[in-house]
Amino acid sequence: MGWVMFENNPDNASVIRMKGGIPLYGSVQIQGSKNIALPIIAASILVNGKCTLSGCPDITDVDSMFRLIESAGAIVCKNENQIYVNAENINEYCMPSRYASVMRSSVILLGALLGRIGEASIDYPGGCVIGKRPIDLHIFALEKLGAEIDIVGNKIRAKAKKLTANTIHFPFSSVGATQNTILAAVYANGITKIENAAREPEVTALCDYLNKAGARVVLSDNFLNDGIIEIYGVEKNSLHDVEYSIPADRIVAGTYLFAVLATSGRVELQNAPIDNMNSVLHTVIEMGAQINKDINNSRIVIEVPDRNMISNLDFVETGIYPGFPTDMQSQLMAVACTSKGRLCIRENIFSNRFKIVDELKRMGAQISIKNDNEAVIDGVASLEGRNVIAKELRGGAALVSAGLAAEGITTVTDIEYIKRGYEDIVNDFARLGAQISYD
Ligand code: UD1
Repeated sequence: MGWVMFENNPDNASVIRMKGGIPLYGSVQIQGSKNIALPIIAASILVNGKCTLSGCPDITDVDSMFRLIESAGAIVCKNENQIYVNAENINEYCMPSRYASVMRSSVILLGALLGRIGEASIDYPGGCVIGKRPIDLHIFALEKLGAEIDIVGNKIRAKAKKLTANTIHFPFSSVGATQNTILAAVYANGITKIENAAREPEVTALCDYLNKAGARVVLSDNFLNDGIIEIYGVEKNSLHDVEYSIPADRIVAGTYLFAVLATSGRVELQNAPIDNMNSVLHTVIEMGAQINKDINNSRIVIEVPDRNMISNLDFVETGIYPGFPTDMQSQLMAVACTSKGRLCIRENIFSNRFKIVDELKRMGAQISIKNDNEAVIDGVASLEGRNVIAKELRGGAALVSAGLAAEGITTVTDIEYIKRGYEDIVNDFARLGAQISYD
């Protein structure tokens, strides 16, 4: 078999093929964060000027968000390193289904469009099928700010002659609903207070961006504990030109750490968002990897000289930030399959996030599900290469990691899911010595 080791083209590929069992060595650059880029691109709708973004990941979801803001009237230009958005003329409130319906985060355009032009019409959001993903908290908060919202068939219609500040207490933490509320409140009249806001770095980055553009979004001194955000409404259309560099993707960085845990080797992550990765780094170290952090240079070196050093923890549960991220749960499960001992994972955020289990079992993993949200994994000596199917974004990436560790050839199909979040997972692993290619 001829392996195309470098710069194999992801654009038209639908399958990833790999030969497992090869340790990973080398250095990899971590891409910009998808979940930070998406709300920031949406937020650009509020900016009555030009936004210069660097570090935007080149992935399909980001592309869809750019298409959506273009439909609203923004002009988007790209060069090699930066993306320029001119949002001086936002005039269209109807978002095309083609892009909105496939992506969960399209829903935050509601807050941005309401804030800028007082009206929005958008499809009920799509995205990965990882369980019930209602938008009741988004609607509750926007209505509290004065919007009238109707859901007719698959369309959400929102209108607000004017938005007025209010206090919004979320019964539980939602990243998207928090972001939507902030966007709608930027030009609302008065001081909006959000209680029990999501504390994820994807929320703080959005606040940072908006403040750079002239908004007044203030996190409480004790934000990680109380989740209080105050948004002081500023004059309509006063947000101005802004430059912003999208921080690195903590989930991509975590995915690569777990791949080294699964295969062994020594890998340096460059441009890693170390400050936001505590729970993942803690897990990786507890499982037996050696980690060196160079905080000043955003570098993490992970070393696993021998796979036999890696043991399962007894129990890991997903949680809101700074807990263990639900977006890393599948990657942890994949490595647990061939680590010593038994791991119990409890998924606390989404209701159907074990889609990867059947695929891992086909590779020889021993996993059983209890009470719908708990998976018990008993480590086996090795997995066997199989044809497996990506059913969602992070589970798809975890299957690649499982394939890199398995004996023989693994093919992962339906990789469109993976391309939604990873710029080029194949060439990243190929540069680390893996035998992997797009098919
Ligand atoms: C974001 C991330 C996703 C991550 C998730 C949790 C993006 C584009 N996606 O998704 O990768 O897994 O945060 O960290 O940033 N919920 C409701 N009603 C609502 C909104 C949410 O019941 O109106 C529930 C959800 O079903 C889920 C929980 O709240 O059970 C948390 O979801 P949320 O934080 O909103 O996730 P997203 O913003 O969709």
